[in-house]
Amino acid sequence: MTRKFKITICSGTACYVLGGAHLMMLEDILPAELKDQVEIVGSACLQACRQADARPPFVKINDYLMESASITKIVDYLRSH
Ligand code: FES
Repeated sequence: MTRKFKITICSGTACYVLGGAHLMMLEDILPAELKDQVEIVGSACLQACRQADARPPFVKINDYLMESASITKIVDYLRSH
């Protein structure tokens, strides 16, 4: 089965301390109907935190880079795509 979304959770320091650690629980929290559609991987720093106005934590969903990521934001995004 091909999964629709690949979610890359940044576990670099900036993201991790600003909420990324919590995002690691995403897999356990995802509603069942979404769980089958996603593949979740962790990643070293995605380099997005290097920007002056960066707002970690960052998560990539396929090619989309989400800033200030939260579990609610991720679920909303998955539901609307
Ligand atoms: S630590 Fe997450 S983008 Fe750098």
